[in-house]
Amino acid sequence: MKGLSNKRVYITGAASGIGRATAQKFYDEGSEIILIDRPSLKETELDVVFPQRMVYIQGDVTTKETLEKIDAEMKKGIDVVVNNAGITRDAQTIKMTDEQWDQVISVNLTAVFKISQMAAKHLKEQNRGGCILNAASVVAHYGNFGQANYVATKAGVIGMAKTMARELGKYNIRVNAVAPGFIKTPIIDTMPEKVIQMMAEKSPLKRIGEPEEIASAYAFLASDEGRFITGTCLNVDGGLSI
Ligand SMILES: NC(=O)c1ccc[n+]([C@@H]2O[C@H](COP(=O)([O-])OP(=O)(O)OC[C@H]3O[C@@H](n4cnc5c(N)ncnc54)[C@H](O)[C@@H]3O)[C@@H](O)[C@H]2O)c1
Repeated sequence: MKGLSNKRVYITGAASGIGRATAQKFYDEGSEIILIDRPSLKETELDVVFPQRMVYIQGDVTTKETLEKIDAEMKKGIDVVVNNAGITRDAQTIKMTDEQWDQVISVNLTAVFKISQMAAKHLKEQNRGGCILNAASVVAHYGNFGQANYVATKAGVIGMAKTMARELGKYNIRVNAVAPGFIKTPIIDTMPEKVIQMMAEKSPLKRIGEPEEIASAYAFLASDEGRFITGTCLNVDGGLSI
């Protein structure tokens, strides 16, 4: 894809699933990748997988300490940020604890805002455009049983992308969301096989997705080929949401 080589690309939640596949995609396109996640580098072995053009920031995106490390790195340059880190803490509304609500909001929504705000400041100062991408979900469009917290965050990051797109367009900073359908990653490992099969059957393509299929969407939106796209939410879901 055009325009990704030598770009400085920040990816949160890069040690697993979609984040990991996204790191691979941008790396293969020649980008310099700055990966952020909670496990140690030793545990992830990301330095073995990506022997060059890779910086690893170990930390929790909800903490001030990690945000300061990201900010310090962004001062050295930034072109793209993929706000991918996300968690679920499912419970029906009546049974949902404050802790379950707060945890999901702080990772999936507040950290996305803070990292995007930080990125926007640096991108504006650099004055060479840029791209902010948020991980939404198809459930943002139609809700999901037991996920009031998660769905609120995923609908939230779509609204956030549209608002930031309006505010930052004049600096050629584009802001978009990607809404994956059901994708084969550890986040859905806790689901019963029957539910996964049912979701696959529901989609017109009759299967769940692969992490690489989401990574391609991020790369396209961040590339020069996506240069006229801003404020949108791209559904990458095998047609699940239609
Ligand atoms: N897998 C799916 O079916 C699916 C569908 C729709 C949306 N999504 C979204 O895509 C994103 C990636 O999902 P995935 O399936 O690859 O999940 P995953 O659990 O495989 O990976 C998530 C990564 O985020 C990291 N992370 C979580 N909390 C963090 C924190 N506080 N600080 C730093 N890193 C943190 C985890 O350590 C993990 O490496 C999430 O935002 C998720 O909501 C996934």
